[in-house]
Amino acid sequence: MTLEHSRKNPKRLGILISGRGSNMLALAEAVRENRIPNAEIVLVVSDNADAAGLSIAQDLGLNTVVIVRSGRNREEHEREILGALKEHEVDLVCLAGYMRLLSSDFINDFRNRILNIHPSLLPCFPGLDAQRQAIGHGVKWSGCTVHFVDETLDGGPIIAQRIVPVLDGDTEESLSARILVEEHRLYAEAVALVVRGDFDVLGRRVIAKM
Ligand code: GAR
Repeated sequence: MTLEHSRKNPKRLGILISGRGSNMLALAEAVRENRIPNAEIVLVVSDNADAAGLSIAQDLGLNTVVIVRSGRNREEHEREILGALKEHEVDLVCLAGYMRLLSSDFINDFRNRILNIHPSLLPCFPGLDAQRQAIGHGVKWSGCTVHFVDETLDGGPIIAQRIVPVLDGDTEESLSARILVEEHRLYAEAVALVVRGDFDVLGRRVIAKM
């Protein structure tokens, strides 16, 4: 494929949110400012009709869809989300505060094409309240991680990480705020790398090509 051809076919990003949406906004700004070249956000999916991120996405003029689980099993819920992603020909799925575990079927449909951001240096402190876990454990450094999603909780191959100090006076809120600043930068950089395709996945290791 020629460079000109690939430029005419930007990678189509779908973003899944459940709440505040600040990482979704950071990705949208990075696309707009060409810090994620050759990409466009074609769909934002929320599983929560009241997510603050939804109105942010709408204000940005992005396509949004609300797909709540509402009494259905995970398979039915995911089938509808997959349908929306496929209808919009999404190439890459970015989880941005999407608070549900994905099934193997979902992951297999987008193997190494689903990214997640997590507010700790994985494999430390997976799951909920990572910043509270970090303070509770007394670590001096924490940070954030962008990784490919596999069947394990916050456990797939690591694409990029950034460290953040934990200060003696930190509360969960102050540490979360310091980490969030880095999340927004790191997620854009990691998505840009994946969109460029300049990497290999060797087992658990994501190796950027020189
Ligand atoms: C972010 O801190 C993100 O790292 C975390 O949820 C927050 C969502 O905020 N994700 C996880 O903990 C995933 N395990 P946002 O809605 O403002 O992006």
